[in-house]
Amino acid sequence: MSLRHILLHPDPRLKKVCDPIASVTPEIGALAEDMLETMYEAPGVGLAAPQVGVMQRLFVMDCVKDKDTAAKPMVLINPEITWTSDESNTYEEGCLSIPEHYAEVTRPARVRMAWLGLDGKRHEEEFDHLWATCAQHEFDHLNGKLFIDYLGPIKRQMITRKMEKLKRERARG
Ligand code: NI
Repeated sequence: MSLRHILLHPDPRLKKVCDPIASVTPEIGALAEDMLETMYEAPGVGLAAPQVGVMQRLFVMDCVKDKDTAAKPMVLINPEITWTSDESNTYEEGCLSIPEHYAEVTRPARVRMAWLGLDGKRHEEEFDHLWATCAQHEFDHLNGKLFIDYLGPIKRQMITRKMEKLKRERARG
């Protein structure tokens, strides 16, 4: 296992629609393990493949925040949204590709997703609370969509300008 470099917004790779994964190979398994390790290290509750520069439809998540509860790492390959609730929920979201910026985003409160697991089998589950928000946020990444795309243009541009400045500073070292 190894840590992967997380791309920072703005980056053209974060704006692209990712390709479906044709089959669950050992390479995909290794990628998922690296992504989980990178996510836990960050720390974050979700990470999508394009965030580590892999343009394929896969994301990992673990929304267990309570230290007394066992971790629940999940790997979702080729996820699809099969149902969303009419009821919505607003959460303050952040993103490992947009560090230190947070904003409220309203999304369906509950969502059903179907996906291919690392076992090569089809899974389907309903998510709620933080899990629902995280799953939809990560799913968006696979279609080149970021949480700031839900904000008004002024707020979005302000965050993007601050991120451009941060990237310039980091590039200079
Ligand atoms: Ni994100």
